Amino acid sequence: MENRNWSMELTEDMSRLRTFFEHKLAEFCGSDPVNIPPRLWKSMTYSLQAGGKRIRPILCMKACEFFDLSLESCFPLALGLEIIHTASLVHDDLPSMDDDSLRRGMPTNHTVFGETLALLAGTSLFIYGLQIPLQQLPSQGFRPERVNSAVAALAIAAGPEGIHGGQTLDTDRQSQLDSDEFVWEIARFKTACLIRAALESGALLAGASKESLKTMSSFGTHLGLAFQIVDDILDVQSEASELGKTPGKDIIQKKRTFVSSFGLNSASELAVMESEKALKIAEKLGHEGLFFRQMALFLLERSH
Ligand code: IPE
Ligand code: IPE
Ligand code: MG
Ligand code: MG
Ligand code: MG
Repeated sequence: MENRNWSMELTEDMSRLRTFFEHKLAEFCGSDPVNIPPRLWKSMTYSLQAGGKRIRPILCMKACEFFDLSLESCFPLALGLEIIHTASLVHDDLPSMDDDSLRRGMPTNHTVFGETLALLAGTSLFIYGLQIPLQQLPSQGFRPERVNSAVAALAIAAGPEGIHGGQTLDTDRQSQLDSDEFVWEIARFKTACLIRAALESGALLAGASKESLKTMSSFGTHLGLAFQIVDDILDVQSEASELGKTPGKDIIQKKRTFVSSFGLNSASELAVMESEKALKIAEKLGHEGLFFRQMALFLLERSH
């Protein structure tokens, strides 16, 4: 790979985007929506504010900036992505799914609010993640066609053609196939789809050219696959204090992961391979695409 180290420029840029996002998210969570039962809102905002790397909104905001949109104007889209991602985590942790008690360094939603409320909060978040950008982007001056295409990308990634399809392949034994290829299918749907949508929806909102859209989209797919491979590796290699979630869960639950399918060494090689593919594609974005190339390296070497 070109360089195993990312620059100060990347960390500074990520921190600028994260600070902006956290500030606006805190404002959003601090509002008191009159039409939502208080306990449901409490459960939804508990998981939204529990922390997390905010990778998807950061990627989305950077894609928007790349195509000359302001951070302020694209925020509702970035927020929608993080809401949808958080929804998937709340459901993923449920006893009927991965049965986890720790998430983002905090007790999981269902251990605090009970299973019924966690289920309702998860579903509400999935839908709210579409509602918010649909309601808020028009007042930022975006034309309806742009809003529709950007939000449709989120909907596709969140639904049965994305996360829900992937989580079915991950959890439903009768849907599972024996081939080595199958673990790639799971990752493509449950994880890569939303990471791709983060980049794609930004490009769609900005009205980027077909070619740039294609570049963002395939960059996102490979970045997302590398992301899940690293997640599987960290499950066997990291500590709860670093991860913010319980390590070793994939083995306990006999999950089909890149590590269980190919072994730790080959999984690491596959993560490098997917990151290299992402990096190569990001080269098409030219000098201005430095952030995206470095992100491929950064996410490969992450520790949580
Ligand atoms: C965890 O995602 C779930 C996967 C898709 C692997 P993240 O690792 O982005 O979780 P947070 O948002 O930082 O908590
Ligand atoms: C989850 O994959 C993907 C989602 C869509 C939430 P994992 O089950 O491996 O995620 P973690 O390790 O619990 O974060
Ligand atoms: Mg899972
Ligand atoms: Mg899980
Ligand atoms: Mg995992």
